Amino acid sequence: MSTFARATVSQNFLDDLYGRIARRYDLVNVVQSFGLLGLVRRAVARCVARGLVLDAGAGSGRFAAACLAAGASRVVCLDRSAEMFAVARAKLAAHEKAGRVRFVLGDVTRLPFADGAFENAGSVFVFRNIPGVDAAAAEMRRVIRPGGRLAVADALAPPPGVLGYFYKIYLNAVVPLWGRLLARDGAAYRYLAASIQKCISAQEFARLLAGAGFADVARKPKLGGIAHVVWGRVP
Ligand SMILES: C[S@@+](CC[C@H](N)C(=O)[O-])C[C@H]1O[C@@H](n2cnc3c(N)ncnc32)[C@H](O)[C@@H]1O
Repeated sequence: MSTFARATVSQNFLDDLYGRIARRYDLVNVVQSFGLLGLVRRAVARCVARGLVLDAGAGSGRFAAACLAAGASRVVCLDRSAEMFAVARAKLAAHEKAGRVRFVLGDVTRLPFADGAFENAGSVFVFRNIPGVDAAAAEMRRVIRPGGRLAVADALAPPPGVLGYFYKIYLNAVVPLWGRLLARDGAAYRYLAASIQKCISAQEFARLLAGAGFADVARKPKLGGIAHVVWGRVP
């Protein structure tokens, strides 16, 4: 059984959800986080933006753009969602480094790349709810060359204490409302908010990467513990 036993939905469910919200994903993401999730993407980009970088679960391409800005020479965006890629392509077309981005439709648990194909890899807001996260971690390790780095960021289990208390209220009451108003899909955002509360801790997440064979695994909370960056090196 997966160590990440709390991914309770099927991949088909997720594909349908991301297909539905793709066109409004960026807008809701910025509004619901007051733009703060951009800081998390930039922190991960600073960790991995060297040489050829894999962006796994690239979605609308915002992490890929952050990697280019932080110095990556090229980025391969991988995602299962053609709808998300339509948004990413339209957005990155205007980017001065658009020629350095390639889009590959595929699944992070079965990466269509050779061993050691990438200098580094990153994945932002993806691992939390995919089924087969162990396989995803193992595949990421396989495609990063020795010495390269993986950095993963996600909104893992809410922090304890007062901040966590108010954050849960925000997740349960306000996030679905933003989803309903801005994306006309309260159900999708109710699920996404619930998946944060069922998620494993950053410590468990770090263990998962170590179990997949990454060395020097470390983690850092962001935004007061609402998000975490976890990274490791391929020995
Ligand atoms: C919450 S979005 C994150 C997008 C982007 N990384 C960001 O920073 O905003 C999650 C993305 O992961 C993709 N995804 C979900 N399951 C996947 C899988 N098994 N393999 C590849 N991509 C997947 C979805 O299609 C979606 O685009």
